[in-house]
Amino acid sequence: MKPVRKAVFPVAGLGTRLLPATKTMPKEMLTIVDRPLIQYAVDEAREAGIEQIIFVTGRGKSSLVDYFDLGFELEVAMQSAGKSLDKLDCSRADYGEIVSVRQQRPLGLGHAVWCARHIVGDEPFAVLLPDDLMIGQPGALKQMVDAYADLGGNIVCAEEVPANRTRNYGIITPGEIKGRATEVLGLVEKPAPEDAPSRLGVVGRYILQPEVMDIIGRAEPGAGGEIQLTDAMAELIGLQPFHALTVQAVRHDCGDKAGFVLANLAIALDRPDLAPLIEDYLARR
Ligand code: UTP
Repeated sequence: MKPVRKAVFPVAGLGTRLLPATKTMPKEMLTIVDRPLIQYAVDEAREAGIEQIIFVTGRGKSSLVDYFDLGFELEVAMQSAGKSLDKLDCSRADYGEIVSVRQQRPLGLGHAVWCARHIVGDEPFAVLLPDDLMIGQPGALKQMVDAYADLGGNIVCAEEVPANRTRNYGIITPGEIKGRATEVLGLVEKPAPEDAPSRLGVVGRYILQPEVMDIIGRAEPGAGGEIQLTDAMAELIGLQPFHALTVQAVRHDCGDKAGFVLANLAIALDRPDLAPLIEDYLARR
């Protein structure tokens, strides 16, 4: 079984739910406490052993790729001004190999993943949606990579979603349960609650086999006129092992305004330097 060495980060979406902030700023560069959203996902991938980070970007997203460069001018300027470089840990970190490819038109998540097909090649790969900020120890992707060593095939990260929210997720038809893993017998994109086969929804972490790329390449637009990743993954069921893994992590949907604010609060409250002030404020409220 080939190891999972590559991770695709689809970051070409328009981020309309966070407008107006995202009019000129990629949503992945909005800060959660003191670092951009994208850094949490990249750190999670590196912890899971990912060697190559593949950004699928679009117009106006260049700052996101620049962020992972060594901040050479900044370092020289700060050093000559006698300032500490401690806060520049992102500049000095080892992010492995960074590759970026363009999605010329936002035709959906499936299409964004497909844009990385030549870079992924003939290897299993991870997909991380940075909007889904996952806080876990070890990180969500590391838990999935560990499960992959036993299960192989395709693994999606899943969680129980409220019955009235099934329209926001790809929903799983569950089969045999093996600890935290559930065999996937079917996948439906955004079903109405009465049509949903379960309440197990797919969230933004995947380990996929490269064959999914050919399937996406043949795909017709699905729900919302977009090329859906869910539809392509559904075609792999029965051909390759396919499981959903419920990871031990807390998820914040940062693509949504309330989720974004809650993620900031949750992370700040875990920081000893910030928590007392915030707790004091919340108590007064
Ligand atoms: P979303 O469904 O959150 O879409 O995409 P969005 O455009 O980013 O945000 P809203 O709904 O308009 O507010 C899920 C993930 O897929 C990527 C997004 O960047 C995000 O990481 N994506 C989506 C693409 O890369 N390309 C697309 O065509 C669509």
